[in-house]
Amino acid sequence: MKSELMLKEEAKAKVILPEPVVSYIESCRQKSRPESHLISVLHKVQEHFGYLAKEHMDAVSILMQIPTAKVTGVASFYHYFNFTPRGKHRISICLGTACFVKGAGKVLDRLKELLAIDVGQTTVDRQFSIDVARCVGACALAPVMLVDDKVYAEVKPDQVAKILGEYGFDAKKAAGK
Ligand code: FES
Repeated sequence: MKSELMLKEEAKAKVILPEPVVSYIESCRQKSRPESHLISVLHKVQEHFGYLAKEHMDAVSILMQIPTAKVTGVASFYHYFNFTPRGKHRISICLGTACFVKGAGKVLDRLKELLAIDVGQTTVDRQFSIDVARCVGACALAPVMLVDDKVYAEVKPDQVAKILGEYGFDAKKAAGK
């Protein structure tokens, strides 16, 4: 039988996670090896919040009855998962071989310089975050940069400010900070 404390923790976890994720976890728990669904549960949590906060992973741990260390360990292992809130616009630079050879590294450097953040980070105003990708299947267009779902082909470092401008970035204002 569950202790009162456990019931309270479960109730709290159900408030933290959205209802469809709670239902999904409950359906996984009916299956033979619930822990084998941990990655898909984490995907759903990230889809909802855009990232995985400690409280989200704690809630998953409680509802799936999997130790927190295992949940955080699995989440940390896959580079797909983010642990900080993502920006309104998610920028991905492809660093696959074709893009890298054609100068994606320099495009990334320019992006980091303009936004004053590193890969995996989000600007203070929560407008942009930077991620890297490994070949997005458009090698003929290398180097490739994605902003949300839009693909920019053959990007040069000096085009980055203009591209960001399409999403409200003001390079002059940023430079004067
Ligand atoms: S390496 Fe960048 S799209 Fe293939």
